[in-house]
Amino acid sequence: MNLSARWIAFLLALFITVLTVVFLNFVPDTKAEMLVVTGVICFLATYFTTYYTVDVLIFQEVDQIYKSVKKLKIKDFNIKKKPLLNSQNPLKLLNTEISDYVTEKQKEIEELKRMETFRREFLANVSHELKTPIFAAQGFVHTLIDGAIDDPEVAIRFLNKAAKSLDGLDALVRDLVVLSQVETGELKMQFEVLDLVRITEDIFEQLEDKATKRDTKLKIKPAKIQECLVVADPQRIYQVLMNFIENAIKYGKDHGKVTVVFEEQKKHYTIAVEDDGPGIPQEHINRIFERFYRVDKSRSRETGGTGLGLAIVKHILSAHNSSVSVTSKPGKGTRFSFSLLKAD
Ligand SMILES: Nc1ncnc2c1ncn2[C@@H]1O[C@H](COP(=O)(O)OP(=O)(O)O)[C@@H](O)[C@H]1O
Ligand SMILES: [Mg+2]
Repeated sequence: MNLSARWIAFLLALFITVLTVVFLNFVPDTKAEMLVVTGVICFLATYFTTYYTVDVLIFQEVDQIYKSVKKLKIKDFNIKKKPLLNSQNPLKLLNTEISDYVTEKQKEIEELKRMETFRREFLANVSHELKTPIFAAQGFVHTLIDGAIDDPEVAIRFLNKAAKSLDGLDALVRDLVVLSQVETGELKMQFEVLDLVRITEDIFEQLEDKATKRDTKLKIKPAKIQECLVVADPQRIYQVLMNFIENAIKYGKDHGKVTVVFEEQKKHYTIAVEDDGPGIPQEHINRIFERFYRVDKSRSRETGGTGLGLAIVKHILSAHNSSVSVTSKPGKGTRFSFSLLKAD
């Protein structure tokens, strides 16, 4: 039962009044007026003293707690003093508010701990990723200094290897810069109307050598499509499509096929990049968007991958209010798709 100070005072006053009047009744020669006057005085005195005591005790305490809470300068403690003190049950209100607040803070602490672990792991990953190409390049250069330079054939081979490691390092640092820019929101998207078919053709041209090396066919579907006008940041969307198509070539099969499919919807275009490669095992699918996550580490490094491509893609698309869907069937191939707003 939820008793307010008023009710407690009323019940106590009633009880004491009845008790007093009943006892007084047994006293000989007691007149009715006396009983009434005593009853009224008794009731009023008990009622007010009890009410005052309960009220003062509870409300003073509540006020005290309120002041301590305020002293902590807790901004998001959103209870106001007036409604609290006017409430029927201020202690309960205060209790609910405090426990809500504690739950909220607990969640924040969990999130901070998670971020801290994430940060620590990221730092460890970055150092590891940086170390690999630096050590490799360093090794080749030192071997050259130690005498390999005298044999021109060996020298050129080692220099090529050192250059490849440094190119990898360059790609990694560039990806890290982009990633940190998109994450801190420093990289503002420049939205404009652009033609995805033209961008895709540009990328196909860029990747022609890589595709020819693996004998991969690059196709656009529907083949007759002239243009696909969407609203997006051209440079960033180029990067997104580049990563999907490059991945499809790199992780697809030899003599395979990579198709960029455009599907027109009411307000959007869905763009899909499909390959007929070995696919991504189910247990890895949710993790490939994590930074540095690769299904096959050595294959990724060998082909100059940084493992950051899909993490960047995810951020860029989310800045376009879009997200990536992946479906993959082992042995059959993979399909990455996303939607962009049609230009009207
Ligand atoms: N089309 C694909 N087929 C198979 N695996 C893929 C495909 N695209 C991406 N992956 C897997 O996802 C990982 C992450 O891709 P990404 O972030 O672009 O890194 P990177 O290309 O630098 O290796 C790749 O290392 C690869 O294992
Ligand atoms: Mg990639």
